[in-house]
Amino acid sequence: MKIHHLTVNGLNAPCGYRYDYLTFAWQVEARIVPDVLVFTVELADDAAFSNIIWHTETMDVQNQVTIDADFLQAYTTYHWRVRTNQVTATSTFETAKLNEPWKADWITYEEDAVPAMTFRRTISLSQPVQRARLYVLGFGVYEVMINGDKIGEEYLAPGYHSYDLEQWYQTYDVTHELTPNTDLSIMVGNGWYRGRFVFEGGFENIYGDKQRLIAELHITYDDGTTEVILTDESWLSHTNEIGDNSIYDGEVIDFAAPILPLTTTIVPDSKELLRERSDVPVTIVHTFNPRVFYDDEGSLILDYGQELTGWVMGRVLEAKDEVIFQFAEVLQDGRFYTENLRTARQTFVARHLGEGFSIRPHFTYFGFRYVKVTGLTEEEARGMVAVALQSDSRELFSCTSSHARLNQLLSNIKWSQKDNFLSVPTDCPQRDERMGWTGDLTVFSNTASYNMETRAFLGSFMRLVQTEQGEMDGAVPFFAPYPKISDRDGLNPFLKTPGAAVWSDVMTVVPMVLYRHFGDKGLLAFQVPGMMRYVDWIRRQDDARGGKRLWDFGWQLGDWLALDSGIQGSVFGATDSVLIASVYYYLSALYTSQAATICHVPGAETYADLAEQVRAAIIETYYEGDNLRETPATFQSEVEIMRQAMSEQFGGMHIPTAVDTQTGLALLLHYQLYPSDAARDTLVRRLHERMKEYGGALTTGFVGTPALPHALLDEGLEEEAFALLFREEAPSWLFEVNMGATTTWERWDSLLPDGRISGTGMNSLNHYAYGAVQDFIVEKILGLQLPKEPGQSYTVDPHFPPQLDWITGQLETPNGPLMVSWKRQGDGIALTVEVPVRTHVIYNGQMLHTGSHHITI
Ligand code: BGC
Repeated sequence: MKIHHLTVNGLNAPCGYRYDYLTFAWQVEARIVPDVLVFTVELADDAAFSNIIWHTETMDVQNQVTIDADFLQAYTTYHWRVRTNQVTATSTFETAKLNEPWKADWITYEEDAVPAMTFRRTISLSQPVQRARLYVLGFGVYEVMINGDKIGEEYLAPGYHSYDLEQWYQTYDVTHELTPNTDLSIMVGNGWYRGRFVFEGGFENIYGDKQRLIAELHITYDDGTTEVILTDESWLSHTNEIGDNSIYDGEVIDFAAPILPLTTTIVPDSKELLRERSDVPVTIVHTFNPRVFYDDEGSLILDYGQELTGWVMGRVLEAKDEVIFQFAEVLQDGRFYTENLRTARQTFVARHLGEGFSIRPHFTYFGFRYVKVTGLTEEEARGMVAVALQSDSRELFSCTSSHARLNQLLSNIKWSQKDNFLSVPTDCPQRDERMGWTGDLTVFSNTASYNMETRAFLGSFMRLVQTEQGEMDGAVPFFAPYPKISDRDGLNPFLKTPGAAVWSDVMTVVPMVLYRHFGDKGLLAFQVPGMMRYVDWIRRQDDARGGKRLWDFGWQLGDWLALDSGIQGSVFGATDSVLIASVYYYLSALYTSQAATICHVPGAETYADLAEQVRAAIIETYYEGDNLRETPATFQSEVEIMRQAMSEQFGGMHIPTAVDTQTGLALLLHYQLYPSDAARDTLVRRLHERMKEYGGALTTGFVGTPALPHALLDEGLEEEAFALLFREEAPSWLFEVNMGATTTWERWDSLLPDGRISGTGMNSLNHYAYGAVQDFIVEKILGLQLPKEPGQSYTVDPHFPPQLDWITGQLETPNGPLMVSWKRQGDGIALTVEVPVRTHVIYNGQMLHTGSHHITI
């Protein structure tokens, strides 16, 4: 038996994190285990475990325990281990300052702002060092160098978070890097803090107008004495070789740039917002070598064969005046093409390179597959490696099948996830946007959590959402962080309106998704207050308008990017937005009551009652007997009037409104919002007609797409469900694959069948929302379903689309991989289920225990 993958709050040996609770988790890997398996979990503040601070015993099959974190001491490395009578596994986690006050000051420089600069100090050490930790935060983005070498594996620190509300510092173990004369230098660029950011051309200096730094280096010498080096006026500051830099536009490095001294000064600023980090570090997770060719304009192009998020790096063989790299997603007419990046320049420039110089950017990242290079020889270009950056999270799922295009789709979905899990879950990694749009995550979080151990990454994002929510009276914004741009004429409503259904419902959907996947009650309990505040906010708005128990107010995006408006390029679909919003009002109240029950927080019944009332209002509003109403009153609602006004503003078109769209019908069926079985039959019939009407294709947008295949299959329209998934003509998932996609697109028609881009206003080839279909492949085709309540039995209930000969998939569970695989054999199916230890699977009403099960169907 092996115990491995020890995590604290989903992180592997976290150092200097914020711990509101502690969830210790581990994975068991074994062929057999004793009938009674007891884990002893022990926590100590020394590696020898001579002083056990806390311990417990557990037989829980989820292999995790949560405890309060209130006993933690500052600056401490804790050691913890999990033991059985056969094996022991050990790990650590470390605290940073907790409530210890900062003695260091924030420092900046007196001169006018420069695009990048360095803070520096030399440190002479009197004796050998036993332990050294650097607690540091630089705004905008920074890299720490000791004696010229970068410290740590992390890039783009401190990541993107709500700097106006909390400032997350990092902790680096630098024990082995310090030398008798240490040169500590910290390069700081613009980043999200002061560089151009946010859609519509961007805003500068969103959080501050100059780079700044705060740092404390805590050294313990071999004889036990200590010293603390603090940022103060004695630090040097100067410009460096990095010039213009920003998240969207890229970076310029000039190795011949004069290094100009700056005047360090203290920022008389409070340190109240400083907190330990909670985000997952951005690191290099993959590297790619290019195929090199010349495009039809004669430009030298590097094709990495995969859309990725990151940079290129490499060495030049000869000295150079200037090398330029431009980054793009797609070629058009055989040429390098960047128009869909809107205003993002995505360019990396290096000047005055000496022979053998290595280059890479520091304060930016790019979304790309193709790179246009100027100034390198073909040989040098071939040596340029692309690195994929990601907030590194453990992968949990793999799946392959007899269908090459389905396999490619699964790869595309995973890559859009990787490419957009950078600091926060972003909408896209390439154009002038790259923001933490909440709605995209609401629909994708279930799929994301099969693919990866998302609890730390999404848990941290949800902390941001909750923090922003604290500024909005319980409402939840369209994106987090939510930059506060001062209002002015023409300011985009997204920057001044509380969110809308589906987007804001991230606050209730994601906590429940994380709980179902990872069973972490510590995390859920932390989120329950935000869930409640959010539902209370909807209810208050509703009550102020007479308490109809519908969400028929405010600005709604409805079924974003659906195709059923009949208007090419429209962002709005035809489905009644009040229906969509009210379904999410219902779900949010329901999930909040469930979460309150799980966490024993008072108030569960109130939310359950509310959910019931919303459900009743939906039925009352949208049905007449067993049929859907022709024209429900919601068609005249404030939402509808605003939506028409908006769409007329965009395209001058009147958008139809309906309830019996694919999306409307799929939502009502999927969430069982109907008054009777006869009404359900009516919905199914109507959905069947709607599928036929569009030749079996979908017309759904962000909201309807995840529900549609499930609704079809669950309601007996199996053939239609499979035809939809395996469809190859536009619009469909496999159309994208056939067009050579290596990530999932923002729009069903991002590229047209002739390969041309359909528009440039809002058109990314790397958006994850439509990848939400992966949960259908996992749950319905493999048939691998999570326990209803974590710790209970899994279910295996596969379906056998005629398009597939075989499929095999594997999900890491706390007790090892759960594998499901089936293949056609003669007229039947051979199903294999491999059940890990301490796990039960229900198949066809039977209980499958640990081991391999071969079933003939
Ligand atoms: C983003 C989306 C987002 C949407 C909301 C777009 O610009 O890329 O993914 O959810 O706006 O309106």
